[in-house]
Amino acid sequence: MKRVLLAYGAAGGQTAKIGDVVAEVLRSHDIEATLIDLKTVHDADPAPYDGAVVGASVHLGRHDRHVVDFIRAHADTLNRMPTAFFSVSLAVEVDPAEARGYVERFEQETGWRPDRVALFGGALVYTHYGFVRRHLMKRWAEGQKPGLGTDVSRDYVYTEWDAVRRFAEDVAADVNASGTPRA
Ligand SMILES: Cc1cc2nc3c(=O)[nH]c(=O)nc-3n(C[C@H](O)[C@H](O)[C@H](O)COP(=O)(O)O)c2cc1C
Repeated sequence: MKRVLLAYGAAGGQTAKIGDVVAEVLRSHDIEATLIDLKTVHDADPAPYDGAVVGASVHLGRHDRHVVDFIRAHADTLNRMPTAFFSVSLAVEVDPAEARGYVERFEQETGWRPDRVALFGGALVYTHYGFVRRHLMKRWAEGQKPGLGTDVSRDYVYTEWDAVRRFAEDVAADVNASGTPRA
């Protein structure tokens, strides 16, 4: 059985939810998927795995720094196995060029060239933000064109789950097509 490391770094919970769906699809293809939060696990090592999927959300224009550190530490290993990266942001929804720019900068910062890259919309979780963040995010959302949700009594999810599943299906095909399992 092939094994895939699914490592992510984020500030809130949307990236982890996307990771859960990717893991579920991989498992449906007989791949063992190990989901790791890089914010809490600092010694994650992709070496024993047959492939790796890395996810990161964007805050203030940058991908999660735990992910950047992880990629830098393991770039050689990652460049020798099937890999995929998914970026989670709201720019995907309102300014795709901006969202692509985040990913280009990430690739320059890390030197990593994943086989697959996907950009997924994130979430605006007003009911989970504190007072100040709720206010700032509403102001920011109001300034976006096309608009993002501004009713702070509810949350808005912009993730297209079908696109997440398609991405995971493609990753499963890449991993299952690549050599024999390591373990
Ligand atoms: C404080 C803050 C800053 C953010 N900055 C950006 C940003 O610069 N660009 C962007 O596209 N999305 C930005 N977002 C939206 C997040 O990428 C989005 O909420 C995503 O779902 C977060 O994923 P996570 O919950 O897994 O961390 C920001 C969100 C917050 C709360």
